[in-house]
Amino acid sequence: MHEDHVVNRASWDELAAAHGQDVYYDSESLVAGRSSLIEEEEAALELAVGGKMAGRHVLHVQCHLGCDAITFARGGAQVTGVDFSTVALGKAKALAERCGVDVEWVCADVLELPKRLDGRFDLAWATMGVLCWISDVRAWMRSVGGTLRPGGSLVLIDGHPVDGDVDDRPLQASTRRTYESGWDYATPLRTGPQVQFTHSLSEVVSAALAAGLRVVELKEHRAVSDGLCVAGWTQEADGRFRSRVDGEAQPVLFTLVARR
Ligand SMILES: C[S@@+](CC[C@H](N)C(=O)[O-])C[C@H]1O[C@@H](n2cnc3c(N)ncnc32)[C@H](O)[C@@H]1O
Repeated sequence: MHEDHVVNRASWDELAAAHGQDVYYDSESLVAGRSSLIEEEEAALELAVGGKMAGRHVLHVQCHLGCDAITFARGGAQVTGVDFSTVALGKAKALAERCGVDVEWVCADVLELPKRLDGRFDLAWATMGVLCWISDVRAWMRSVGGTLRPGGSLVLIDGHPVDGDVDDRPLQASTRRTYESGWDYATPLRTGPQVQFTHSLSEVVSAALAAGLRVVELKEHRAVSDGLCVAGWTQEADGRFRSRVDGEAQPVLFTLVARR
């Protein structure tokens, strides 16, 4: 495993131990039957697979507590969740049991997925806090793209690379930053160190193309239906969340739908 990923895994084990019933992860309402998807995710799902989940083979990439995996399994999909944190997967398994669904849980670095996942999935689903942990976006696209059957779709929804960029300089290459005290969006917990990466949109799209994927849609969102616990986004009169600089709403999320 890449040495930066080893650092991040230790932080994620700590975070996963703390997550589950907090402002972001509302396990109890998931158990009660709520969908974990937000409006922007529903729209991407509709575009990727027509919204219908029954019988689909789905890979939930970097699944954390597996909330979306559980939502898909409830819709009748056969779901595999992959994450490198054994603590997260332990919690995901327990949550799936409480929700009464079967999900296959795989512990692996996303850049070193087991060969048995190759070419298996109709949908690879990776959303909300994915690429900032990944040292090599091309390797990520090759690895995740390789799990799709021909015609299968990737949905990647993630933080826009310009959101919160503190350096105020054009993003042409990936950047790597070490934080001595790891940050969390869901709790006040500050873990050991984290290494985070920013990959520009051009790199993300080029990586998808280089991995043999066809881009179906690239959308940049300046308004989001959910605040996602992001500091700096404000809910406005229309109920949507934005981040403004000099009055102008900035791109805060992106959606990439691509097909193998
Ligand atoms: C912000 S969470 C993702 C949230 C998730 N999409 C959800 O719906 O809750 C990031 C997840 O990525 C996982 N992760 C980070 N780097 C990874 C890697 N190299 N390989 C596998 N999983 C990784 C972490 O363990 C964590 O569970």
